[in-house]
Order: sequence, then C-alpha cells, then structure tokens
Amino acid sequence: MNQNRIPLYEALKDFNSKHPISFHVPGHKHGLLFQDSLRDFSQILKYDVTELSGLDDLHSPEGAILEAQKLLSTYYGTKRSYFLVNGSTVGNLIMVLSVFRPGDTVFVQRNCHKSILNALKLGKVNPIFLDPEFDESLWVAGGVGSSTVEEAYHLYPDAKGCILTYPNYYGLASSLEKTINIVHQNRGLVLVDEAHGPHLRLGYPFPKSSIEFGADIIVQSAHKILPAMTMGSYLHINSEFISTERVEYYYSVLQSSSPSYPIMTSLDYARYFISTFTSEDIQYTLRQRDRFVDDLKKIKGILVANGIVEQDPLKLIIRYQGYSGYELQHFFEEEKIFVEMADPYQVVMVLPLLKKDMTYFYKDTIEKLKKVLNRHIYKINPTNRLQMESKQKINHLAMSYEEMEIKPIEWVSFDQALDRVAAKMIIPYPPGIPVILPGEIIDANKIAYIEKLIQNQARFQGNTYHILNKEIAVFKK
Ligand SMILES: Cc1ncc(COP(=O)(O)O)c(C=O)c1O
Repeated sequence: MNQNRIPLYEALKDFNSKHPISFHVPGHKHGLLFQDSLRDFSQILKYDVTELSGLDDLHSPEGAILEAQKLLSTYYGTKRSYFLVNGSTVGNLIMVLSVFRPGDTVFVQRNCHKSILNALKLGKVNPIFLDPEFDESLWVAGGVGSSTVEEAYHLYPDAKGCILTYPNYYGLASSLEKTINIVHQNRGLVLVDEAHGPHLRLGYPFPKSSIEFGADIIVQSAHKILPAMTMGSYLHINSEFISTERVEYYYSVLQSSSPSYPIMTSLDYARYFISTFTSEDIQYTLRQRDRFVDDLKKIKGILVANGIVEQDPLKLIIRYQGYSGYELQHFFEEEKIFVEMADPYQVVMVLPLLKKDMTYFYKDTIEKLKKVLNRHIYKINPTNRLQMESKQKINHLAMSYEEMEIKPIEWVSFDQALDRVAAKMIIPYPPGIPVILPGEIIDANKIAYIEKLIQNQARFQGNTYHILNKEIAVFKK
C-alpha cells in the first residue's frame, strides 16, 4: 500500500473544495458561526464534519476511513488496526471488556493507568495485581519481571491472561519477550497498554514495540508522541486468538456515534508521518536530542538521568540538585517552558520526532533554562529517595467488585485507615498511576508514601481536598 497517501485528509480536502453548504450537524456550520474574535480557532472547523457522502463512517468503514485503517495496519504489521477517538482510555476499556469474561482471573501490572482499573471493574473480572520491578536509577516503578509472572501462574494456573503497561511514562521498556512467552505457554492472552509507544515501530535505537514481541492486542496513544490531536489513539489486533467481533462490538458501544473528523484525520496524518520517517530522519532526531542533552549537562546542578533498562530516547528525565521535580517544573514554567510531568525527584520532557528539515526550540530552551537557574542556584544537599515498599509482589483484592458496589463508604483519617479496605483510588497526577486501589487493604507503607507525596507538593486527581486533609475513603465495617 502507498504510505504516502492520507486518504481521509484527501477526502475532506476534496469535499471542502466544492464549497459545500451545510444543512447538517455540527451546528457551527463549517465554523461560520464562530464570530470574529474566534476566527483563528474556526480555521480547523471546516474539517469538523460528519458522515456525509464520500466521507465514510468510522463505525462501518467502506471508503476513506477503511483505507486509512488498512494503511495503519500495514505499517504496524498487525492483523487489524483501528482509529480511536477517545484516547487509550477507551482503547483499554475495549481491550479488557472484549478479551475477558466476568469472573476470569487476570494478571494486571499494578502500576497501570486508571482506565485499566475502571475496565477491570466494568468487566467484573478477578484481578491479581503484579508488582513491577523498581528502577534503582530513576527511583520509579518499571515493568513486571518475568519471574513474577511465572510465580503468579504457579499460584493461579487458570489465569486467562495478563495486562501490561509498556513502556512506562518515563520511557522505561524492559523486554517483554520472556513474559509474553510465559503467558502464551499458559494459553493466556497478552494485552498491552502501549500508550507511550506509538513510535516504537521505528526500530533501533528505539526499544521494540510489544507488537513485535507478539502481544495479542495493543493500544497506543498516537497523540502522545506522533503528530495527532489529543484523544487520537490506535487499537491493534495482533493475533488470531482475539475475537474481532467482540472487539468491534465494544468499539461501537464505547465510542461516540459522531466521531471527530479532525481527530481521525490527524490519526491518518500521524500514520503517514511515522511510516515515511526515514533512517536519516531518525539520525537527525537523535543528533538534535544528543546536542540538547550535552548542553543540559553543562548547566551546573543539572543531571540527565537514565534508567537501568532500555529507555525511549524521546523521554528525557532531568534532575536539579537540591530541588524536587516539582520545584524544577516551576522553574521551567517561570520561562514558559512546560514539561510533561514532575515527580518528587525529576521532570520528564517529551522530545519531538523531527524530520530532517524541521527545527525545534532546543537552543532557546537552554538559554532560558540557564537564565532561570541562575535565579535558583543548585544546592548540595542530596534528594531523599521515596519508595513505596510492598510486602509481597502478587496481590489480590480484599473485596470483590460486586461487594464494593453495595457497601457504604466513609472518610477517615490516615491513622484510622490503617488495615481498612480502600473505597476510592488515590492517584498522583501525572502520571495517573494509582497508589491506592479500591478493594485493597491500606498498609502503613502506602500511607507513608502518600504523606511524602503531599510534603513534596504532588498533585492528585480527584478528592484532593480530602487527601490534603489526610483523609482516605474506606468501606464501612
Ligand atoms: C500508561 C497510560 N495508559 C493510558 C493512558 C490514557 O491515554 P489517553 O490520554 O490517550 O486516553 C495514559 C495517559 O496518560 C497512560 O499514561
């Protein structure tokens, strides 16, 4: 197939060239109802159309969308690939609900995105949480060790599969080869949340994609790294053991019947962009990156951190001696530079994929950073390490999802919450990875970790008022 084509964009361009008159939804009428002050915003709205003749239908694709999705599948080498218009969030829901049945025992990497946890609950499965390995260099949770998966199968030989996150938010990508083999040998299916890896298909020096490792079904947030609009994501079926029918059923149930054409078109473009990315472009991207890293390292007090496993070169992890990641993030923002996220130790920057004629703001960023860090001189005191210790690597919930649905809850102080069953997630955001899961027992390590996050001014998603007041929701006894 010709990867230089962008069929959905071509269909829309052709449609607009005919100066169409709208007596259909959406109500903004090709942006004409956006008045003068919003004129620039309305530029994109001529592409915000609906399922008109010649523009195909995401839920029953036969024309431009079908062709665009075929190009996607050909590029990634999958059995079937789909556009998602509600992020990897909806992709994770579709994967879990279509692959598992209520009551199935399923292994789940504990440091997963909350959409996976929501999917487990909606799917009424029986999750067994697997603790990840701790990366001693970045001081963050990484991937699940294959020995943990092996041990889990000894304890739960009937498990139907395993849900993994790869790579993690920091770009850590420990090989999935062994883990996927173990799951397949046990006749299980591997579901991978590859939200942070839509570019891994580029190959070395990027870590391998889980598609190549042989995962059965995979979700990728195209919008996180590729030039796609927010919420634009891909879903890939990569094995004959996944029921296309069930996937397509949940795909249509969980997504809007009026999917956004700008998002879909940006997904078509993102596939074009990555599939035409040459080895020269890769070298150029990496040279620009390496120069930026060298310049960063010349700034006194700055450390560019590396994990101990393979790492995505587009995720840059930066520390500033004597300051937390949250403080460093504020320093960046003083100069209007916005990083992807901060944790107690470091910030994470997401670097661009550059084709060889593209430039980026690397030089400006270094100059601005030097200026701001002159105002906040580094300190010699070391940063304290903060780790959530857990007693054992393989854990099940103390209460079933059915029971959780009917039990009343109450908010209690951190002290009173000890050894009680948690009723709500506690999620530092970003990265959106829960520290406490509903249905699990709250232990002293978790409370100590949350207290340290609060001291370090971490942000939380939802229930912030209670958390900052040191209260946790638990199920009534
Ligand atoms: C690992 C992981 N999975 C899924 C998601 C959700 O992705 P989306 O924003 O595309 O819905 C995120 C979002 O940050 C994520 O980090």
